[in-house]
Amino acid sequence: PPLDEILNLHDFEAVAKAVLPAKAWAYYSSASDDEITIRENRAAYQRVWFRPRILRDVTSVDWSTTILGSKSSLPVYISATALGKLGHPDGELNLTRAAGKHGVIQMIPTLASCSFDEIVDAAQPGQPLFLQLYVNRDREITKKYVQHAEKRGVKAVFITVDAPQLGRREKDMRMKFVDDGAGAKVQEGQSGVKKDQGVARAISSFIDPSLSWKDIPWFRSITNMHIVLKGVSTPEDAILAYEAGCQGIVLSNHGGRQLDTSRSGLENLIDIVAALKTKGPWPNPNFSIFVDGGVRRASDVLKALALGASAVGVGRGFLYAFSSYGQEGVERAIEILRDEFEMNMRLIGARSINELVPEMVDASALHAH
Ligand code: FNR
Repeated sequence: PPLDEILNLHDFEAVAKAVLPAKAWAYYSSASDDEITIRENRAAYQRVWFRPRILRDVTSVDWSTTILGSKSSLPVYISATALGKLGHPDGELNLTRAAGKHGVIQMIPTLASCSFDEIVDAAQPGQPLFLQLYVNRDREITKKYVQHAEKRGVKAVFITVDAPQLGRREKDMRMKFVDDGAGAKVQEGQSGVKKDQGVARAISSFIDPSLSWKDIPWFRSITNMHIVLKGVSTPEDAILAYEAGCQGIVLSNHGGRQLDTSRSGLENLIDIVAALKTKGPWPNPNFSIFVDGGVRRASDVLKALALGASAVGVGRGFLYAFSSYGQEGVERAIEILRDEFEMNMRLIGARSINELVPEMVDASALHAH
């Protein structure tokens, strides 16, 4: 359908499913094992209800924010999704260009199809970018990569901590790995590619499963970028991240692609905020909580923000947008979210995102299922 008939982020998914080659659809849409967590990521948002406030003069509402010190036109960033060229010949550059035009922040994946420098070169001067990091067994490679990113102006590094081994995504595994030239430019020194286990496993064998809390001071010693751990699920680990001197955490289950039957980030948020409040002032300007997984509507984002998140990540929503319509699709997705924010902020009675408070949601059914 023509782009102006796309009315919400779900519509992009339907188009992507229809237009993508079977292998690309399998890699993008798949989740691990029985795909319970991916379903729960959406379902959790549907168990939280709004408690809107009225008569607050919502003539002008502002949903812009600052994420890790960088301005963002939305309280949403584009989360890293690997292998953009499986979906569109311009791959991740679709995201970079649309993000630059609309003041949104993109997280560059370690396993991007375009090279890191191509992506940074496609950004506008001063356009903020984040980096998603898979840590290599060869730490020299990781060190060079991180320091190069910092030199090129990247603001924050999101270390993925929920993937010491990639999950079994059986839809993807059934497709086998056929090299069609769209593969990631994986980092030097990678070896042991297994071609019979689906795209995900074939590209990920360099990831170091020995990564531990002891490595965090090393990351701090090699970079001044903000350090965020992507893939935290418990208050225990949230506190360890805080005490290790990280600048934030992403409550994420990797879009349901790692440990199946993990809880959703939204469901973990309440306990984790409560735990961090015991550690100091809240909101803490030096420690941010992000959430991702299943976010497709601005109303989802408002729920996470009301419950204490600083911003929210969206993966497949933008991935499907460029897979179906390239850069224009991503721009449309951003515009759709912007329109949804305007309307929902008015209807909930919040003039800025600071006015989104826990009392604006009823989360009493969130754990009751
Ligand atoms: C991902 N995600 C991901 N995360 C990461 O840290 N490194 C990566 O390389 C990838 N690659 C990737 C590929 C694909 C196809 C998907 C769908 C996801 C996870 C991603 O950053 C994010 O956590 C989830 O996508 C959020 O869930 P939604 O928005 O897709 O529901």
